[in-house]
Amino acid sequence: MSDSQTNSADESLMALAAEARQRAYAPYSRYQVGAAVRTPDGSVYVGCNVENASYGLTVCAERVAVFSAVAAGHTRVTQVAIMTPSRGAPCGACRQVLLEFGGADLLILLADPEGGLRERRLADLLPEAFGPDDLRAANS
Ligand code: THU
Repeated sequence: MSDSQTNSADESLMALAAEARQRAYAPYSRYQVGAAVRTPDGSVYVGCNVENASYGLTVCAERVAVFSAVAAGHTRVTQVAIMTPSRGAPCGACRQVLLEFGGADLLILLADPEGGLRERRLADLLPEAFGPDDLRAANS
């Protein structure tokens, strides 16, 4: 998938992820992450990583954003933008959470503050995933 073509919707989602990143609470790793998810009605929810002195309690930016959308009444996300220092891809736990609400075709924009960008589909990051469809099959 192309790494350079963006449209204004992509850019506004990335701008919101960048803004959320400013609010990252990351005093331990100093790795600040911002995320923004778009829902089917066009609304956007953001998240930043929130660390804790008990390190294992840290929550990633992506999950904060997705859970904010769910708390506001949404159960689907159609696109996500993630801004990290290294243009990093989401961790395994976040990939699984994104699958739950975004599905395998979810479009993921990975950005860094210098303007670097790559685009992925969730299926490429989480191949042969276990997901909601497996449980539907078992319960039908
Ligand atoms: N982090 C995220 O917010 N998202 C990811 O997908 C990877 C890691 C955060 C967790 C922690 O606060 C810091 O980055 C370093 O792991």
